[in-house]
Amino acid sequence: MSQEFATLSIGDKSYKLPIIEGTRGDKAIDIRRLLKETGYITLDSGYMNTGACTSAITYLDGTRGILDYRGYAIEDLAKNCSFTEVAYLILHGELPTFDALEVFKHEMRRFALLHEDMIHFFDHFPPNASPMSILSTTVNSLHNYYPEMDNDDDPYGGYSVTTARLLAKTRTIAAFSYKKSIGHPLVYPSPRLNYCENFLNMMFDRPNLPYKIKPEFVSALNKLLILHADHEQNCSTSTVRLVGSAGANLYASISAGISALWGPLHGGANQAVIEMLLAIHKDGNNYKKYIAKAKDKNDPFRLTGFGHRVYKTFDPRAKIIKEACAEIMDELEINDPLLDIALQMEEHAATDEYFIQRNLYPNVDFYSGIIYRAMGIPTNMFTVMFALGRLPGWIAQWTEMKEDRENARIGRPRQIYSGQTRRPFVPMRDRL
Ligand code: ACO
Repeated sequence: MSQEFATLSIGDKSYKLPIIEGTRGDKAIDIRRLLKETGYITLDSGYMNTGACTSAITYLDGTRGILDYRGYAIEDLAKNCSFTEVAYLILHGELPTFDALEVFKHEMRRFALLHEDMIHFFDHFPPNASPMSILSTTVNSLHNYYPEMDNDDDPYGGYSVTTARLLAKTRTIAAFSYKKSIGHPLVYPSPRLNYCENFLNMMFDRPNLPYKIKPEFVSALNKLLILHADHEQNCSTSTVRLVGSAGANLYASISAGISALWGPLHGGANQAVIEMLLAIHKDGNNYKKYIAKAKDKNDPFRLTGFGHRVYKTFDPRAKIIKEACAEIMDELEINDPLLDIALQMEEHAATDEYFIQRNLYPNVDFYSGIIYRAMGIPTNMFTVMFALGRLPGWIAQWTEMKEDRENARIGRPRQIYSGQTRRPFVPMRDRL
């Protein structure tokens, strides 16, 4: 196959830059030798046009609203699979056979407990501590309690064991941090329950009030986690790769990803959406006032849950979540005024020039919080839920980066310096 090139002209010199094509037709200009050959770097703040790696995990086409994990459409996966099955797919590259899935599930049950000493961590956070900070801190400390988990010669062997442990323990940490925040006794993971059932049970079971697990919630939770399971090189995933590229262990890298996810422009948006909808509700459901604020250039307010860096027609995840949200509210006969406001806002934005021109549509976070509210999950846990969903993606991306020996180098962007030119040192006595 003949190699295609792009030509770059600088002054009277021209340079041939190889063109790389992905398996789904996406194209890149390979600038890896640019600095060496031309003395120039590229400047791309926010990495709007920069591919940081090649990856075989997730494909997305923002113009056509396509999202696939390992070649499978998100719509098919959300409809037919459990989160555990999709986690396996993302981590291993193939859907599991029945037996492989049973082994994976068994490992997750086996490794769901936390070292008892870690339980004391939860006692020392202030009662109103953010569950995201607890999650990030505690995941980081897993390295101290389970150092064998990031050892290449892991005596328990195998990638699936390590990742099953991390998936299971992070779920336990998430539920424990909630129980501690409300001052309730911890509920330990049960070996008889599946991933989502176990999580709901650890969150809501009480000694005096046993929790009845609703299959509708289990199904909705599976769907939500699947929809968040990976999203190629977003802010948190790029953070996980960047931290891992310096040789930091898996837990430290994932913990950094959790911190990045916390931001309201990223995973923190699901919490911010509900806060915004609640504010609108308190303000007499006057959503038009908030839409006007979002359009006002002198007002920093943005409609949280709208817009996306890559999706410019629609976010396929938002479409699935919106349907799931309507379904669960209907099945369980739940009436949430926030859903009515959300639907009205979406409808309004769809015909408003400001939103049309800028391709601003509801993103994955716009409806997810309404489902979490229906389940009884408190708002400050929403981003933790996102982190649980994104975990297989982070682990798979971290591992892919480690295994890419050809491009194995520390991530280190360049800059264009815009400060002072070199100047003579001024001794203290002469500084005015
Ligand atoms: N409300 C109002 N205006 C918006 C919004 C919004 N939510 N999002 C973007 N815009 C406007 C900007 O003001 C800008 O207008 P201008 O061209 O007149 O200056 C234009 O649309 C482009 O916006 P950018 O910030 O350049 O878009 P970018 O791709 O960098 O940002 C982002 C994407 C961060 C998601 C943005 O749309 C946003 O802030 N949305 C709200 C927060 C949110 O929901 N985040 C969750 C994203 S999904 C996820 O991370 C899982």
